[in-house]
Amino acid sequence: MTRIGWYGLGSMGLAMATNLQRHLVTKKAPGMIYSNRTMARGNPLQALGGTSETSFEKVIGQCGIIFTMISNDAVLSNLVSTAVNSGQSLRDKIFVDCSTVHPQTVGLTVSKLREKQAAFLSAPVFGGNPIAVDGKLVFAIGGPKDAVGVVKPLIQDVMGRRVIECGEDATKASLLKIAGNIITVNMMEAVGESQVFAERTGLGTGPMEELIGEAFGPVAGGYSKRLTTGAYAPPLDSRPGFGVSLSIKDANHALTMAKDHNVELPALELAQENMEAAREYGGESLDSSSMYGVLRQKAGMEFWNEKSRKGGS
Ligand SMILES: NC(=O)c1ccc[n+]([C@@H]2O[C@H](COP(=O)([O-])OP(=O)(O)OC[C@H]3O[C@@H](n4cnc5c(N)ncnc54)[C@H](OP(=O)(O)O)[C@@H]3O)[C@@H](O)[C@H]2O)c1
Repeated sequence: MTRIGWYGLGSMGLAMATNLQRHLVTKKAPGMIYSNRTMARGNPLQALGGTSETSFEKVIGQCGIIFTMISNDAVLSNLVSTAVNSGQSLRDKIFVDCSTVHPQTVGLTVSKLREKQAAFLSAPVFGGNPIAVDGKLVFAIGGPKDAVGVVKPLIQDVMGRRVIECGEDATKASLLKIAGNIITVNMMEAVGESQVFAERTGLGTGPMEELIGEAFGPVAGGYSKRLTTGAYAPPLDSRPGFGVSLSIKDANHALTMAKDHNVELPALELAQENMEAAREYGGESLDSSSMYGVLRQKAGMEFWNEKSRKGGS
């Protein structure tokens, strides 16, 4: 049976790999071989039967399907260069990247791997860490049909509730992800604005949160909880659910593409400014919803609320 490899065990990657490893166990398939920059993050996977491997090259050498879930375009490009320059045969291997990267990065990756007779699938995800833990993410997937056919059973009802097929051009899946994130970031901004309004007018964040979850759905409700539980500014020794720099990267991808195509995204520009101001004020370890802190400041309140951490960096 094809051995599965996994690189990237951050907020999303660890949850996803855990569900995949559990699935491999139920199928009596060989356990996955995983790697990460911080290897200790993989301890829960080892406990479930996964095998650790510090070298990405060695993961590739032993596996036919290799998933990556890393922070940004530069990290993906480095991993792909490692694979291509490793000197080993990549023939018929399938690389599946679930991160959010620019369609141009996807296009370059497809070409580099195609030269080595390997396939590349872009399979970015929608939904945050709690949804990843539940195995209920929405995936977009793009790339060669045969490879999609091989990989889809490892995703559907394992890591995700729905797989949206975007055809053989892998860049289309990444484009869908970038487009979807326009809604994600704008929704966080809208929820933040409404909660600041509710607090300042004396309505209170409790009834507002009930309304948001009930009338605007669980995604918007989840964003509200990030604010009221203080998760927008988590303790300094913990990982944010969705790091502010990752969200800024996503918004930048959308804004760059919009400019190239003469499309205006004024709401996203505003949310982007607020995320950048939040990062400037509170540091890298903030969540993407931390534009809320800036909205609080603009309304004459402290950046931090009673449940968040109370200082920067
Ligand atoms: N979080 C969300 O809600 C969410 C939702 C949908 C999509 N996404 C996208 O999914 C991807 C992963 O997000 P995440 O929240 O899991 O991010 P994360 O928690 O910050 O994890 C990032 C991963 O990339 C690795 N990494 C970072 N810099 C590296 C480097 N220079 N060399 C090698 N490895 C490096 C990290 O290794 P270490 O463990 O050593 O730091 C970790 O495995 C991102 O593209 C993000 O935009 C996130």
